[in-house]
Amino acid sequence: MNSTAYAITDLADEQARDEGFWQQVAAQYDVEPGPVNFEYGYFGRMTRAALKDYEQNLAYVNRSNSVYVRQKFDTEDSEFIRADLADLLNVPVREVALTRSASEAVQALIRNYNGLVAGDQVLVSDLDYNSVQTGMRWLAKNRGVEVIEVTHQHPASHDALLQTYRDAFAAHPRLKLVALTYVTHRTGLVMPVKAIAELANAHGIEVILDGAHALGLLDFELADLGVSFAGFNLQKWIGAPLSLGFIYVKQDRLSAIDPDMADERYGADDILGRVPYGTPNIPALMTLPKVFAEHRAMGGAPAKGARLAYLRDLWVTQARTIDGIDVLTPDDPRLYCGITSFRFSRHADQELMVKRLLDEHGIFAVTREGSACGTCIRITPGFTTSAKDVDQLVAALRALA
Ligand SMILES: Cc1ncc(COP(=O)(O)O)c(C=O)c1O
Repeated sequence: MNSTAYAITDLADEQARDEGFWQQVAAQYDVEPGPVNFEYGYFGRMTRAALKDYEQNLAYVNRSNSVYVRQKFDTEDSEFIRADLADLLNVPVREVALTRSASEAVQALIRNYNGLVAGDQVLVSDLDYNSVQTGMRWLAKNRGVEVIEVTHQHPASHDALLQTYRDAFAAHPRLKLVALTYVTHRTGLVMPVKAIAELANAHGIEVILDGAHALGLLDFELADLGVSFAGFNLQKWIGAPLSLGFIYVKQDRLSAIDPDMADERYGADDILGRVPYGTPNIPALMTLPKVFAEHRAMGGAPAKGARLAYLRDLWVTQARTIDGIDVLTPDDPRLYCGITSFRFSRHADQELMVKRLLDEHGIFAVTREGSACGTCIRITPGFTTSAKDVDQLVAALRALA
């Protein structure tokens, strides 16, 4: 990291603590009265201005119908929007194609990856998203490959995560493809993607990255991660309308992904044919330039990520001192972001505790299952969350622990 990068990080860290600044950010959103929302992991909220833009786009597309869509959106505006996305990611425009969700994106990559023959092995972990796990298992039936399923150690550590992949790659010489999740939705654990991709590449194994929770939250250069295939959505930390995602395929590996369902609309060298066909949510796509401009104006992923990590630290440092609260996500700064999970260790039923958090303390959160650490309660603050909201959460944890 050079000194300029340090200066940016320091600034983001300082701003992350500035409740006045974040009050001004929060004022850009309309929030329905109700419980304190600690479940922004599902999707983010659009600002009032983005929502207005979306509504206007919806009304316009409804009025102008195919006259606009066929004459201008399909031929010009959709390309402008795709270029804006590529600009945000700092990758060539030919390396991205929009989809309707992250699941659609990652599953299209899994389904159309043509580097597998019967008898090959593919790998998935307990921390991957369900639609990615099922997609990889689908390969077993449809390509005759063997699915290796690894379970990550709990508590997680940087070395243990790497060792799990190192061991799996050494033990399975027929491994060709690995699914990897940048930020797991189960505990918010951040995977050391670049290091794992390096290990994989050394074994000639390719990685499909699920970046759903990473985009807009982690400060990363997509082209530097060492992965050739990735899927994302835009409704979480970028703040776009629901129904948008995209695939990323490095240009020199596009030939490893077949056109989806033998799509014939585009040339062999065009990524646009690699995603499922279908009329998209055009008004939502038209809103993206506004959303990206807002994301940049807010300071982008460095500012957003630092704020959410600060709010996370605020509750986690206190929760670690409460008997009966077991914080499950590690404190290694390389391995966490704004999302973190915990468990009431003296209570067997975490689902019931989520209900009590809501009924008795006005805190809304959800349980997540499926990882080695067992059922946990996920806490995800958002850009309208204040330090006072965190105080309310900590008081609730103390009372219920
Ligand atoms: C890690 C991860 N991957 C994939 C997805 C699926 O995203 P989408 O709903 O856009 O398909 C999610 C959604 O929460 C997620 O958290």
